[in-house]
Amino acid sequence: MILLLGATGYIGQAFQTELTCRGERFVALSRSQVDYTKFQSLYDYLKSSRPSFIINAAGYTGKPNVDACESAKADTLQGNTLFPQVLANACAALEIPWGHVSSGCIFAGAWIDYGNGWVVEKDMTKPEFRAIAKDSPEKIRGFDETMTPNFSFRDEPCSFYSGTKALGEEAIQDVGHSYIWRLRIPFDEFDNPRNYLTKIQRYAKVYNNFNSLSHRGDFVNACLDSWFQKVPFGTYNVTNPGYVSTAEVLEMIMETLKPEREFEFWKSDVEFYTTGAVAARSNCIMDSSKLLKAGIQMPIVHHSLKTALSKWIL
Ligand SMILES: NC(=O)c1ccc[n+]([C@@H]2O[C@H](COP(=O)([O-])OP(=O)(O)OC[C@H]3O[C@@H](n4cnc5c(N)ncnc54)[C@H](OP(=O)(O)O)[C@@H]3O)[C@@H](O)[C@H]2O)c1
Repeated sequence: MILLLGATGYIGQAFQTELTCRGERFVALSRSQVDYTKFQSLYDYLKSSRPSFIINAAGYTGKPNVDACESAKADTLQGNTLFPQVLANACAALEIPWGHVSSGCIFAGAWIDYGNGWVVEKDMTKPEFRAIAKDSPEKIRGFDETMTPNFSFRDEPCSFYSGTKALGEEAIQDVGHSYIWRLRIPFDEFDNPRNYLTKIQRYAKVYNNFNSLSHRGDFVNACLDSWFQKVPFGTYNVTNPGYVSTAEVLEMIMETLKPEREFEFWKSDVEFYTTGAVAARSNCIMDSSKLLKAGIQMPIVHHSLKTALSKWIL
């Protein structure tokens, strides 16, 4: 039996759907049934139920966005750092393998070759970065799993949410046997306030930057496949290969969904951060080739975006 934690959440629901489709036996456990955030109650539950694998889709995300984490620091720290550590230790004590949903938001920017070798560029809004992205995309690379997070409490500035996610990874690394699955800006064909494609359509103004993204269904399938196909434990960037700018995504939305409203971009980071946002935002490009080398293929991001928009369900 597989145990699913955080099943009531946006990502947890997608795990439930896919596990059901696959005919897998699973238990979706909520904190209202067992307070799995407390070591003793979690340990006792695991000892008696003995799951073969645990999926941790629980965490504190902040609603409607990460700005809410800045004023709920205790919950954010508890959900994203302390709880994963509790779970890691309980799983290690009982020798239960598990997978943890982490985030790509612990990185900022991308690797770029401006002509003098590879460097990390945190500010992808620079005109020279945009020019290279347009004309020589081979000169841009994402962060891979060997790289240290650069949008974290150890490499500030970062949002409080990102800081706790990065610290969460540190807290569980090398404890027992687990996957760390890094999700990045989920989207799919189902209109939902948590869906990136819905968010873009509802923003008063759109923030234009580059990002890697994860189709929610592709993400969940890749995570489940990594377990069922016995991919080695460790950290994986579970993003659709490639990256897109928000402007490109908006263009696809305009072409396919033909929304009636006009869209406007924030003119600069200064305008965005003085008027539109509280916490610093992570914008980053991820390298998902480790997952591919392990035998798990995800469709390229442009393909997944087009498919989601062509099947758009209100
Ligand atoms: N959505 C995104 O944009 C995104 C992007 C990257 C990574 N992630 C990560 O993906 C995971 C799931 O995110 P989500 O969007 O599905 O979040 P969500 O919709 O808020 O659901 C998270 C679930 O976790 C449980 N939970 C909430 N607060 C908790 C706390 N303080 N301690 C322990 N459990 C708590 C709740 O389940 P019960 O009350 O039923 O137990 C809740 O339904 C999180 O770890 C998040 O950091 C999300």
